[in-house]
This record gives sequence, C-alpha cells and structure tokens, in this order.
Amino acid sequence: MEIISNCTQDVIERAAKALKDGHLVAFPTETVYGLGADATNEHAVSRIYSVKGRPTGHPLIVHISSINQLDKWAIDIPEYAKKLASKFWPGPMTLILKRSDLAKNFVTGSQEKVGLRVPNHPIAIALLREFEKLEGVGIAAPSANKFSAVSPTTCSAVVEEIGECLENGDLVLDGLQSEIGIESTIIDCTNLRPVVLRPGFITNEQVEFASELNIDFSASKIKVSGILESHYSPKAKVVLDSIAMHGEGFVAMASIPTPKGVVRLASPATVEDFARDLYKALRLGDEKKLDKIIVLQPTGIGMALAIRDRLLKASHKES
Ligand code: TXA
Ligand code: MG
Repeated sequence: MEIISNCTQDVIERAAKALKDGHLVAFPTETVYGLGADATNEHAVSRIYSVKGRPTGHPLIVHISSINQLDKWAIDIPEYAKKLASKFWPGPMTLILKRSDLAKNFVTGSQEKVGLRVPNHPIAIALLREFEKLEGVGIAAPSANKFSAVSPTTCSAVVEEIGECLENGDLVLDGLQSEIGIESTIIDCTNLRPVVLRPGFITNEQVEFASELNIDFSASKIKVSGILESHYSPKAKVVLDSIAMHGEGFVAMASIPTPKGVVRLASPATVEDFARDLYKALRLGDEKKLDKIIVLQPTGIGMALAIRDRLLKASHKES
C-alpha cells in the first residue's frame, strides 16, 4: 500500500490504472473518504468486503463521473430522479434506481436496484474521468472504514482504519479533510415518490423542492447498512445529551461552555461545522483512550437531523 499526498495528474493517472488492474484506491470525497474498486470487477469488489469486514449482501454505491453515465447503470429512471440528479450532482446525494445489466449482484448485494453518486471533490472527479479514459464505467466505494466503525474524513483516519488490510499495489490518496464530514443523503427513486433512506447534507426540504414531490415517509424495506442499530461507532461509549463528568469527552456547539474537568473534543460554531468535525472528534476521543464521550446534539431540522441520525446509531452499543 502507498499513501500519496500530492495528487498531481500523474498520480491520478496511476490511481486510475491501479483501479483498472483490480487494485483498491482509497480517495477523498466531499462527504467522507471512500474505498474504491472497479465496479465491474468482481474480485476487486470482493476485496472491499474483506478489507472492511463488511458482510456480503450490503450493497455498494457506484460513483460515476457525471449525470451522463446515469443510464449506463440504471433503467426506468423517473423524471423526479433526473431533476434531483441535475440539481444536486456533483454533490452529496446518492440515488437508488432500478439497475441495468451492468450492475451485477456483487455490487448491488443481489438487489434489483443500484446506488449511484457523482461526488463533488476535485480528486474524486479527476480519478473518475481518468478511469473513464481507460474504459472504466464506475467506481464502487463504501466509506473507507471497518464495518460499523466511524467513517474517515481524513487520509490519516483511512490509514488508521484499514491501512493494515491493504496490499501491494493499493493506493490511498490524500485530499485533506472532507468538507461535509457525514455521508451522502440516500434517496430511493424506485417508487412514485422519493424515499429518504439516509439523511445528509441535502435536506428533506431540498429534496421536495427539487423533485416537486412530497417525500414518502412510510417505512422502506430496503437494506441499508446505516440502518443497523449500531453504526458509526467509536470504541468509546457515546452518550447523548447528558451531563459530562470529570475525564469524559465532550462535544457541543461552541456557545456551550466546557464543564470543569471534561475533555473538549470539538467546539463547532455552526451545524455545518458540527457535521464536518463530528467523526474527527469521536476518533480523537478514541486516541485519548476515553471511555465515554458526551455529545450535546444540535437541534432543528436540515443538517441537524442528519447529525442526530448518525449520533443515535453511534450511541447504540450492544454491551
Ligand atoms: O457519502 C457517501 O455516500 C460515501 C462516499 C464514499 O461516497 N459512501 C458511503 O458508502 O457512505 P457506504 O457503503 O458506507 O454507505 C452506503 C449505503 C449503505 O448503507 C448501503 O446499504 C446503501 O448505501 N446502498 C447502496 N446501494 C444500495 C441499494 N442498491 N439499495 C439500498 N441501499 C443501498
Ligand atoms: Mg459506511
């Protein structure tokens, strides 16, 4: 495995070639870092599952370079999905659509649907375009963390999470800290109305406005690993909206003072900062070997809702 911090055009070309040759390439996106493989190469995709320790049957998001690639991977695309794609791509949104023959069982978890996203990060876009020049059609990439752990928002977090499991020929591209910091909004577009499977930076209000439809909030049976009860979890126990005691970690908006004797892990000034720094703060708590991290959740709708979704799962521990 090689970590590359200066992602020049030469490096991007090398990374695209590595993908084409069946290696894994971890790369930055605006949401979190992804662990990429050629989405049409069964062996390369199977390595994603073994590196992450992810149970097979959990579908992967296929990253594409532009909206023009959409109908290579999907069929029967409803009008409202096209409206969402043209409004929010490139960007932090994944659309679930009926799959074409290109999307094989090994990438969709044997579902008849495929998840697609055009990321908005210069390195990710450059990599996708270069991959296309080599006849690549899409990069399958889950977040570059061990299954059920905290998603990485920096290159060093990727290396810490999965570095040991990467092999000769695999690459990790450094693109500084992910600007958004939580994973994309996932929207199932296989019904008459959009269904939000995972909230994110693109809010329910924005989805309804752009699609000109009301979201269907009735429960969906589709399998999304982020729906498992315990997910996005650090080693420390995450406790929500509780009083922080001496020696415990503490994450809250900057306007909330630090209680005496607690270890402040983040002081975001806005909900956007909260999202960007949350996973970094949880990792910092683990680095400091804290047993418990108290998080005072942001209130309100929009991004705050997506943050609370992740925190609810991060705070679920079986033991
Ligand atoms: O922001 C993101 O979406 C990041 C970056 C790297 O793009 N990726 C990401 O991937 O979060 P992952 O695998 O960690 O989470 C993707 C979620 C999973 O929970 C998966 O089950 C769901 O998307 N998903 C993917 N394809 C699906 C499909 N065909 N049907 C339903 N859910 C799907
Ligand atoms: Mg993930």
